[in-house]
Amino acid sequence: MAQAETVTVQHAGGIAWVTIDNPPVNATSNAVRADLARAVSQVAGARAAILRCAGRTFVSGGDMTEFDAPPVEPHLPDVVQMIEDSEVPFIAAMHGNVLGGGFEIAMACAWRIAAPGTGFGLPEVNVGLIPGAGGTQRLPRLVGMDKAIDIACNGRIVKGEDLKALGAIDIVADDPEAAARALAEDLPARPVPVSMRDVPPFDADLVEATRGALVKKSRGQQSPLENLAALQWALEPFEIGQPRERERHLELRHSAESRALRHAFFAERNATRPAAIEGATARDVERIAVVGGGMMGAGIAASALLAGLEVRLVERDAEAAAAAEDRVGGLLDGAVERGKMSPDARSAAAERFAAAGDYAVAAGADLAIEAVFEDVAVKRAVFASLSEVMDKDAILATNTSYLDPRDIFAEVPGPERCLGLHFFSPAHVMKLLEVVKTPRTSPGTLASGFALAKRLRKVPVLSGICDGFIGNRILAAYRRAADYLLADGALPYQVDAAMRAFGMPMGPYEAQDMAGLQIAWANRKRQAATRPAQERYVPVADWLCERERFGRRSGKGWYDYGADGRTPQRSTEVEELILAYAREQGITRRDFTESEISERLLAVMANEGARIVEEGIAERAGDVDIVEIHGYGFPRWRGGPMHYAGEIGWEVTKRTMELVAEESPDSWTLASRF
Ligand code: NAI
Repeated sequence: MAQAETVTVQHAGGIAWVTIDNPPVNATSNAVRADLARAVSQVAGARAAILRCAGRTFVSGGDMTEFDAPPVEPHLPDVVQMIEDSEVPFIAAMHGNVLGGGFEIAMACAWRIAAPGTGFGLPEVNVGLIPGAGGTQRLPRLVGMDKAIDIACNGRIVKGEDLKALGAIDIVADDPEAAARALAEDLPARPVPVSMRDVPPFDADLVEATRGALVKKSRGQQSPLENLAALQWALEPFEIGQPRERERHLELRHSAESRALRHAFFAERNATRPAAIEGATARDVERIAVVGGGMMGAGIAASALLAGLEVRLVERDAEAAAAAEDRVGGLLDGAVERGKMSPDARSAAAERFAAAGDYAVAAGADLAIEAVFEDVAVKRAVFASLSEVMDKDAILATNTSYLDPRDIFAEVPGPERCLGLHFFSPAHVMKLLEVVKTPRTSPGTLASGFALAKRLRKVPVLSGICDGFIGNRILAAYRRAADYLLADGALPYQVDAAMRAFGMPMGPYEAQDMAGLQIAWANRKRQAATRPAQERYVPVADWLCERERFGRRSGKGWYDYGADGRTPQRSTEVEELILAYAREQGITRRDFTESEISERLLAVMANEGARIVEEGIAERAGDVDIVEIHGYGFPRWRGGPMHYAGEIGWEVTKRTMELVAEESPDSWTLASRF
């Protein structure tokens, strides 16, 4: 069957209406570029051509599924140039989002008209690229270097109204097509094409300052700097800058960074639709009950209120309920301060919220999330009380980090409506949500968990049951491997420096100090009975806890904290404990280079991730990557531990893991893929 045309041209009253129709987001696929090129030649004879898109948005980017293959003609920069050069002037009539190639096309039009609220951006930086069709060359000419840097280097989406103020959009109108027709009927003088304009004067120090800030912020990611460099080529004539941009764009398509970022993009999309919910219908969730209003419960309640849900919070008694209410109020105030919520929305949220020391408030909720103390008996009692007041088909979720949901739900009538919803702290900020399936959870219940995640603007990942689920299980392996390095010769600051150099926002020891050492201590005690006797166990973290070195909040942990309580300083006490442990064990300590440290820790993460996939705890390797990126600060531009292992080669990862296993015999189970 012949492919339907993605671009059509209709002549009416001296105007050529050019309509792109390539659902869902009118991406500039191979077909669209070819059809658009043909359409440009078909507008001849009209007074003006109006370029518009069918569906919910203007062109919102390229088709990333085509990026691994060699580019197919006609190339977008050529099509964009045809539009700019067309004798019949083009008017862009835009709505929705105008991103990447869409923005590049719009900049080649003679006039730009947008519906209110239309978003404009060059998000190529987010997938490790620079624009490839003149975006970095036309944008500074159109909006000035300052704004262009913000848009291209930070991937900022700006509203048409902002661009109008800069003169980059001609008209903002409720009905852009009607406004375009009116303009076409009484055409003003055609403006100088954007590519032929000069970049308006700007402060040269700005570029240097931005470069410094970007180096710091991007922690090794190159694409923001690539975009900054490409924007500077706009100071040359367009005929020089444009081909340079195109060439670099094509090179970057093959960079490790772009591959990793594109992997993360697709893995994130896949994670939201696991096979386990295929065909299942989600329940509508409008009102949720949260039980326990401590750190997590308050964060979960705030997250739901920010998303417009109704929330009922149950605490132990009226006093605890009042404290929880204050905690939630504080989080909402913080959201207002950070510009995440308007003061009006804050008042409306307060109307949708009630806290009480009594389960009666939970009646009528569609779903309940329990976030009380990490204790099976306490949690079981909570679900017994919830079952009494809630509907029989209401969904029941636990936020437990380490307990087995099967034990928690053992006595609940209707186990098919029970699941884990494991949030990350702070719950109103962190994007990750592990949706935990028990063997009896129904697909509809799971689908409801995923639908709720979407509503809360979280990134959901399906997990089966194991100690720590996906994320905390990998974290435990990572920390254990780091502790072995301490025993064998490294010091905390060296391990942290190595992981920072890799791109982590923090190393494992700084991160423990920030979160507090107590939870992990409690876990190790819990696991002591089942830990294999032959497994190597480095007790230094326990020793720190015994000395009340619980981390930042207690003023000392793996590090000492100076007067500001934030800056980690090497601790003689801790380093002596490590050396004492090595002496006691008769270990001859050796030096580890930064890359020896990071490669070992990354191999351990990939090994644990591979086991998690093999055991069916995660459906796919990409799910493991998304957990690490959104829950643990793994650099997105490295793609996650599984992608990274593949990038350096699973063979290499395997050899490193074998080395790790040799260095600590009887302590690691290698994934069977090794
Ligand atoms: P928390 O100690 O700050 O809060 C627990 C709250 O539950 C307290 O306000 C307490 O008054 C309330 N509570 C206790 N028993 C109750 C009962 N029977 N009925 C009503 N309320 C009751 O603890 P946190 O850190 O908020 O943790 C809660 C749960 O979330 C735990 O299961 C924990 O493992 C899990 N979790 C914790 C994370 C963290 O980073 N702290 C991350 C993800 C999950």
